[in-house]
Amino acid sequence: MKKYLVANWKMNPVDLQEAENILSGYLEINLQSDIELVVCPPRIFLRNLIEKSGGKFFWGTQNCFWEDIGAYTGEVSVLQVKKLGAKYVIVGHSERREFLGETDEMVNKKIKAVFLQKLVPILCIGGGKEAKNKKADALKIVKGQLFSALHSLPARTIKNQEFLVTYEPPWALSTVSGNQSAPAKKVAEVSYFIFKLLTKTYGHQVGKQIPILYGGSVNAENIQKFSKKLNLAGFLVGGASLNPKEFAKMVDLME
Ligand code: 13P
Repeated sequence: MKKYLVANWKMNPVDLQEAENILSGYLEINLQSDIELVVCPPRIFLRNLIEKSGGKFFWGTQNCFWEDIGAYTGEVSVLQVKKLGAKYVIVGHSERREFLGETDEMVNKKIKAVFLQKLVPILCIGGGKEAKNKKADALKIVKGQLFSALHSLPARTIKNQEFLVTYEPPWALSTVSGNQSAPAKKVAEVSYFIFKLLTKTYGHQVGKQIPILYGGSVNAENIQKFSKKLNLAGFLVGGASLNPKEFAKMVDLME
């Protein structure tokens, strides 16, 4: 199975010059053919960065709106980011659930819009206010968010289109935890649980093809703890992706 390293730059950096500097560092990365490197910068930089990247990476956006066009002040549609050249859309990130009040219903509408435009959703589950407490029932949260995100989506969509799921507990984000990732045992337990839910719902053949990623303080120091031992298809990386040298190291260590 293909592996994924997804860079979520979040609301960084402050200007295009700096964004281009990070991109220059990325262009030095020695990319193996089985790794899909996906860059999700702030949307305002997307066009410029895609143009400068020479087709080296895949591109994504950190959010989207569910309508294609219309009176939705401040929103950007899946169709608009598709026309810019994005292939992936992060949906339901824990920061959006927590700070922007993104609900399961909104996540469901967004994921449908992404599928409709034939882009690839990177669905984030395990986040939100209720999940902030480390002792919260992660399996219950993940199950609820997964099924509401996929609510009323035909099984043939899941079967025929690319779709990624990421487990991202909010208490493990580098900005919250000071680089304390979730324990490997926890990631193993939750990712296996997601795998079981997917295979039970869509059948083994389909379910096992859906890549499951982990996000939360993954960096060059700890990536092997996850990539060597766990059955993950890749990682969603925030803070460490802003440092191209460290990110390049992570690509090397992902083999
Ligand atoms: P960090 O890697 O900074 O913890 O962020 C993870 C994340 O939120 C990626 O979407």
